[in-house]
Amino acid sequence: MRSKRRTNGIPTRIIALLATVALGLLPTLAPSRATALENGLARTPPMGWNPWNVFGCDIDERTMRATADLLVSSGLKDAGYRSLVLDDCWMARVRGADGNLMADPVRFPSGIRALADDVHARGLEIGIYEDAGLLTCQQFPGSYGHYQEDAALFASWGIDYLKFDWCFANVDNLPYACPREAGLSPEECRDRLWPADMSAGLSHPDAYARMRDALAATGRPIAFSICTWGAGKPWLWGRETGNLWRTTPDIEDSWESVMTILDQNAGLARYAGPGGWNDPDMLEVGNGGMTDTEYRAHFSLWAIMAAPLMAGNDLGAMTPETLGILTNAEVIAVDQDPLGAQGVRIRDDGDQEVWVKPLADGSRTIGLFNRDGAPARISVSAAEAGLPPAATYRARDLWAHTDATVEAEIAATVPAHGIALFRVSPP
Ligand code: GAL
Repeated sequence: MRSKRRTNGIPTRIIALLATVALGLLPTLAPSRATALENGLARTPPMGWNPWNVFGCDIDERTMRATADLLVSSGLKDAGYRSLVLDDCWMARVRGADGNLMADPVRFPSGIRALADDVHARGLEIGIYEDAGLLTCQQFPGSYGHYQEDAALFASWGIDYLKFDWCFANVDNLPYACPREAGLSPEECRDRLWPADMSAGLSHPDAYARMRDALAATGRPIAFSICTWGAGKPWLWGRETGNLWRTTPDIEDSWESVMTILDQNAGLARYAGPGGWNDPDMLEVGNGGMTDTEYRAHFSLWAIMAAPLMAGNDLGAMTPETLGILTNAEVIAVDQDPLGAQGVRIRDDGDQEVWVKPLADGSRTIGLFNRDGAPARISVSAAEAGLPPAATYRARDLWAHTDATVEAEIAATVPAHGIALFRVSPP
């Protein structure tokens, strides 16, 4: 999907310099290592709710306020889902006369500051969405050329979390580089529409470092969510730049999508830890495209991978089963464990897998995961799972909420597309 970097014959260093000058920032060619992110936020993976997976662009302040109320009344807030994050389409199509972003006047008539106040009054935090490039993915004004002003505006509104996307930012990604309305091919778009200084686009680490610094300059703690869909390998530079970084393309409400994303995120465990997390995208739990067994597996695997837990379902139409999955405190505790280790797949027998996540108290979460369409018996020895030698272990089943004493082996018959999840500790 992404073509090779194009420079139109202009040396990359010159393009980088032009882009830097155009951004109105210091003329250095690379972000300074001395400015590594130390904002003290996201010591455990962020948790919250985002409308994108269920509502897409169809959002307004009534939905957001109603969702804030539902986060509280459903118990999701108490379970840890504290950030209500606006996604794309909250904006007016153009900036105001002062150059500032404006909320869509029809869908957000009272403005984002008022919404933020209401969200804070409910004991929640509020997040917002913008884009590093010329336009957001849904073609609202991007932050390119306005990083400082936009960061200052968000801080003045009381924003606590920024998801910063990567559309219209880089010709490596030509299919997404040109506004649809322009009716141009990607190549024509690049040649005619893009500012000359952006002909090669922005560099991922550089652009995000600039927004990181703009956020820091506001003095307000704002968690920073990097959203390049894995482009530019954000796990390699994300820790010094943001609190979480998307590692994959967008999730869909299907088993195939969840499996694809799982495999893309699985090998990145070494990059995650307190303050900076691999983000395999938001949850689809409760959106209807999968069975509850599959949603339990999706949720469990995200917890094992210490993924941010951003619920993405309609809280006004939530089944008790969906609520039960999202509020399983024992699974959430795995995700939020203070050690902050991303679990790994220690065994891959084709359709049967064993996942292990070490926890701060010395116990280990063990996931026996069955990708097959038929039930399967899966087992792992305590030694293979990295547990210290002992005659017996206590195995807590995190979905059945039962305890068992096991000897050298942890085993279960796992349903199709299901997971058995245990917290195993020496006696
Ligand atoms: C994508 C992003 C999605 C959503 C969407 C909005 O780039 O990955 O999570 O934010 O843009 O247009």
